[in-house]
Amino acid sequence: MKITVLTLFPEMYEGFLNASIIKRIIDKGLAEIKVVNIRDYSNDKHHHVDDTPYGGGAGMLMKVDVVHRALLDNISNDYTCTLLTSPKARPLKQEDLERLSKLDEFVIICGHYEGIDYRIEKYVDEKVSIGDYVLTGGELPSMVIIDGILRLLDEGISSESLKEESYTDGLLEYPQYTRPVEYNGDRVPDVLQNGNHKEIRRYNLKMALKETLVNRPDLLEKRDLNKEEKELLGEIVNEL
Ligand code: ADE
Repeated sequence: MKITVLTLFPEMYEGFLNASIIKRIIDKGLAEIKVVNIRDYSNDKHHHVDDTPYGGGAGMLMKVDVVHRALLDNISNDYTCTLLTSPKARPLKQEDLERLSKLDEFVIICGHYEGIDYRIEKYVDEKVSIGDYVLTGGELPSMVIIDGILRLLDEGISSESLKEESYTDGLLEYPQYTRPVEYNGDRVPDVLQNGNHKEIRRYNLKMALKETLVNRPDLLEKRDLNKEEKELLGEIVNEL
């Protein structure tokens, strides 16, 4: 997979691309990430990339001609998918990351300042928000998108762990523990230590239902609960 990021702040990606799992995925050749400085596409001698908005208003807008030139120079063909980070979009979900992880190539345009001249939207396939809050620019959102996609490509992350994690099956992940068995008076639940896989599976499902009920009840409302889940949920409600 090839991902091209168009940004005014390429230096923000250095740490991100050179550490941990992301670095490993890139080193394995599973993904190529190209970071392009939009400023290189400015035509004026002061390398301006932004200007004041027509009609007044606070802040500066990125210029459509500069961003469009950067885009045209970095898409292989008309079919290259183009994303634009923006708080004015539907918030990203795990299923969006799964869909995007199947593409061969895409470009992410990072908005900055007050945003980009609206006319850029004509050249964009999808606008992506990472949540209902406003950041200073699209750089962190683009890293969130790339991180979420690259980990789905990683052979190092077993399909088992992807299957069990939060959001992939509509429930939040159950709590997990490692050594020591007791910390400040809190013990690892006995059932997780007894090696009985049937009991462990049922206990973990119950805890996943409890985490979801407490933190994201909206997810449970959307879910078609099976008989076992209804039973466990009943137990949880009685215990609360
Ligand atoms: N740019 C600023 N805030 C953003 C957000 N929440 N998501 C995507 N891009 C953004």
